[in-house]
Formats: sequence, structure tokens, C-alpha cells
Amino acid sequence: MAEIIKHPKNENIQNDKYSTDHDYDGIKELNNPSPYWVLLLFLGTIAFSLFYAVHYFGYPNNGRDQISEYNKQMAEVGKQPGQNPSELSASVVFTKEQMTEGAKLFTEKGCFACHGMKGEGNAIGPNMTDHFWIHGCKPADLVKTIQEGVPEKGMTPFKSTLTDAQIKNLVAYILGTLVGSNPPNAKAPQGVECN
Ligand code: HEC
Repeated sequence: MAEIIKHPKNENIQNDKYSTDHDYDGIKELNNPSPYWVLLLFLGTIAFSLFYAVHYFGYPNNGRDQISEYNKQMAEVGKQPGQNPSELSASVVFTKEQMTEGAKLFTEKGCFACHGMKGEGNAIGPNMTDHFWIHGCKPADLVKTIQEGVPEKGMTPFKSTLTDAQIKNLVAYILGTLVGSNPPNAKAPQGVECN
């Protein structure tokens, strides 16, 4: 033993003095503890974690944990226009004329090609008879989707080919007649559920 090694404090010290007798392949572990300030910092983080844990996960639930935050934010989202899941078709009354007119347009204007004869959806377009909507379920959301389309997803914009009244009639047909009609071969739901 008794070899000279360099201690971090730059003193030449005897290996034996600091030895822990742990030796692996000639690599020795020395007893060279961290400075006190490092130790205090470490203990400090443990103490802090206790306060932190009580603050955020305190019992009984104080609403500061992740799940409560998430639920709060989702409730906020629900209050924004166009995203309120509780305002579906049912709360809006469409006239029979609007729905009949809309049904005609649905065929005449070729909506059926991508959404199915009964709105059940097909390989191209989504099902419009369920309660799931990709772009919102309020009448205004549908009007906007029909006007502007979703060209990158294959939904044609119709604002230059349909009048506002025609679009409203289509929305009346979709929300008033198609939604909840339960046709055969309905395509799997897409988007967010509105109820
Ligand atoms: C060329 C195919 C095509 C035609 C024609 C078409 N659509 Fe679409 N439509 C789509 C596709 C694809 C989507 C889904 C877009 C997406 O995934 O973002 C869609 C979405 C929609 C949506 C929104 C659905 C949702 O879940 O938010 C409505 C409403 C809609 N179409 C109504 C109509 C109406 C009314 C017509 C006829 C005037 C029509 N579409 C014609 C392909 C078409």
C-alpha cells in the first residue's frame, strides 16, 4: 500500500488514511465525504419535497393536483363558444321544412357521396348520425365546416356553391334528422362526444 495519491485539497496523502478497503481492479474507493453545504442542500431538497407534497397532494384533496387541474381546465373549455358538449342539436328546434329541404340538398349537392346516403359515413367522410363531432357540434360549427370545408381532409368548401339558407337547411337535416337515426353500417365515431 502506502502509495501517494493526490487528494482534492492538493495535499499528498497516504492512501491508507482515507481508504475504505473497497477495491475493484485496482480502483480504490476513498472515504471522502461531500462538503457540508452539499449535504445540507440535499437534505434541504428532501425537506422541500415534503412541503411540496402536502401543498399539491394534501389530504383531503385540495384541488391542486394534476387531475383536478385538468378537470378544471376541461370545464373551462366547455364554456367557450363552439365547444360546449352540452349544447347539441336537441336544444335547438329545426322546422320540418328546413329538414326536408336539407334532405333534398344532401342528395342534390353530393354530400351523400362522402357521408353516405343516410349520413352513416363511409371510407371518405365521417358518420353524421352519432354524437361525435370533429369540428364541433353546435349548429354554428357545422355551418362553418360546410362553408369553409376542410380541404386537407377531403371536405369540400361549399360557401361559393350554397346559399346561407341552404347551409342552414343542411344543418337542420343533419342535426335534426340524421343525428340519432342509427342507420345500418354506421362508421365508427370520430372526434369528441357531444351529449
Ligand atoms: C368529397 C367528399 C365530401 C363531400 C362531397 C362532402 N363532405 Fe363533408 N366531410 C368530408 C370529410 C372527409 C370530412 C371530415 C373532415 C375532417 O376529418 O376534418 C367532412 C366533414 C363534414 C362535417 C363535419 C363533421 C364533424 O365531425 O365535425 C360536416 C358537418 C360535413 N362534412 C357536412 C357536409 C355537407 C352538408 C356536405 C354536402 C353539402 C358535405 N359535407 C360534402 C368529406 C366530404
